[in-house]
Amino acid sequence: MPESSARLVLLDEETAYEHVFERYTYLQKNANKLKQDLGIVSRSTSSVDLDFEPKDAKKCHRKERFSFEVSQSLSSLNSSKINDNSTTGYVVWSTTPFFLQWLLYSDTGLLFTNGGDLRCDEETPAKCCNVPAMFSDPSIEADNQPLRQIVELGCGVAGILGIALGNYVDKYVLTDQKALLDRLKHNVAHNIDELRLRGMDSTTLGFASPRKTPLKTQMDVLCLDWEKLDPRPANLHNLLKPDRRAIVTIISVDVVYNEYLIEPFLRIVQGLMRAYKELGHVSTALVGVQLRDQDIIQTFLECAIVDFKLRVYAILDADIEATRFGLYYMKLKE
Ligand SMILES: C[S@@+](CC[C@H](N)C(=O)[O-])C[C@H]1O[C@@H](n2cnc3c(N)ncnc32)[C@H](O)[C@@H]1O
Repeated sequence: MPESSARLVLLDEETAYEHVFERYTYLQKNANKLKQDLGIVSRSTSSVDLDFEPKDAKKCHRKERFSFEVSQSLSSLNSSKINDNSTTGYVVWSTTPFFLQWLLYSDTGLLFTNGGDLRCDEETPAKCCNVPAMFSDPSIEADNQPLRQIVELGCGVAGILGIALGNYVDKYVLTDQKALLDRLKHNVAHNIDELRLRGMDSTTLGFASPRKTPLKTQMDVLCLDWEKLDPRPANLHNLLKPDRRAIVTIISVDVVYNEYLIEPFLRIVQGLMRAYKELGHVSTALVGVQLRDQDIIQTFLECAIVDFKLRVYAILDADIEATRFGLYYMKLKE
């Protein structure tokens, strides 16, 4: 069997530059094979159908399939009057379906969902990095394992990560700017049948979804504006509630596209991770980006490494490297 291509590359200022250079050199060489658009899944319809299933169901570790019908607003996207001109979240962006397909069905995704050791040549002495399981283990009683929570930042109106991943975790919090939350709630309600492996309770959605299984997830939709929130624990109470030891994954997809947002976004990521640590929880972040402007990606990585002193890894495997997407794994330094 060929050795898996999956690896983490721990980035410092210098290797971040080399990594970005290599990714963009590949993009240039393969420009004729890769889509050159901005990354909006559909620019012409107000409803987008998204289906997820393993490429080869016989070989894949995960069998569940998901189908979503998402309502998006092209007129809001193109409006200069609403939400202070911050309108990108009114449509679905293609990094999100790529990320979900990768996380659920690829061998590398499995290491993140179920936990494990991932090759990382820079790590000493073990030359591998241990990734805690993002999903809870359905074969172990809930009280005998840490609570699994996902907090999504800048989720946009679609809510598909929340519903698909809510099948596997105890708590999922979808967050974005206030103006987007009504459409987001509508989409969550419309697609709730795809949350079928667990019952769902919520204090913010206005409905629950009972199932014939003792497994439950708590799903909430909250306003979290990176430019307005001071991420001190006292201000984060809605996100810090796990009542037993938790493994928290902060997920953010296609939120690195504007240099002014980089610092506020990273301040929230770092603030959340510090607050979780103070409370005795383990937290990590997974950030998916579309490789558009090279300088923005470079600045993002440098800012995370140098200014916010985060441990930043590029996640690389054959699936990721063949695309215009980048996935990064982040932790607090010990
Ligand atoms: C390109 S969209 C991506 C949306 C969604 N994650 C997706 O992939 O379809 C960027 C997201 O970041 C959110 N965002 C931008 N500025 C923000 C801020 N200051 N606070 C919170 N979210 C913000 C937008 O509202 C939008 O949902």
